[in-house]
Amino acid sequence: MKYIRSDEEIQSIREACQIAATVLKTMVAATEAGVTTYDLDQLGRKHIESLGARSACFNYRSGKQIFPAYTCISLNDEIVHGIGSMRRTVQPGDLVSLDVVVDYRGYIGDNAVTLPIEPVAPQNADLIAATRAALEYAITFARAGNRVGDISHAVQRTIKPYGYGIVRDFVGHGVGKTMHEPPQIPNFGRRGSGALLKPGMALAIEPMINLGTGKVKMLPDGWTAVTRDGKTSAHFEHTVLVTNGEPEILTIPKK
Ligand code: MF3
Ligand code: CO
Repeated sequence: MKYIRSDEEIQSIREACQIAATVLKTMVAATEAGVTTYDLDQLGRKHIESLGARSACFNYRSGKQIFPAYTCISLNDEIVHGIGSMRRTVQPGDLVSLDVVVDYRGYIGDNAVTLPIEPVAPQNADLIAATRAALEYAITFARAGNRVGDISHAVQRTIKPYGYGIVRDFVGHGVGKTMHEPPQIPNFGRRGSGALLKPGMALAIEPMINLGTGKVKMLPDGWTAVTRDGKTSAHFEHTVLVTNGEPEILTIPKK
């Protein structure tokens, strides 16, 4: 059946997601003014390795490009897929997006958060809160019998009153043996449209929301996506399992 994982696969995805969540938590705790994004990335690498997993980002290929870091670290106007650098130090007032994807015994766990460094501008605090709320609300639609468009529309509906830009060039996705499996999960769409959700589907839901335009520009490194107008961006992501009952958020650390 399409995109449906077996019980054994689900158990592996659960374990991968627990590792991804634990590593993300460690990185969040270490994110403060003065740390370089390289050091954060290395912290992520070491923690992933210490848990017997492997970064799914390192050496990830997209066309001719190969991703050179172990996690994605995106600051301020960077939306996703930022590359840690020794020359980049986290500054007071920054928005820091951390995205951790691990492969554990052949299965993927994927999650991301955006956190503010004090002093946070009120409009950035609002952007972060709305993006997190959009993810939380969207997750409640990850239920058997709903469709992908119900998740998409839930994000769009949460964001609309704020007038923020929704990023359309990147989308959520199924996870399994690889990082990006069908179905795609856009952060906009029509209720009742798209693929039917069934128990056993593992979905990475990930709103990427911009203070200004939703339009994207790529940096010359070939990976980092930034907002076209230079305004800030926020990103939250969980891997969620569709069940016979409540959605199961796999990327909340159990310990
Ligand atoms: N969570 C991101 C995504 O789903 C991770 C990308 S890793 C990279 O696209 F290697 F592609 F950067
Ligand atoms: Co993802």
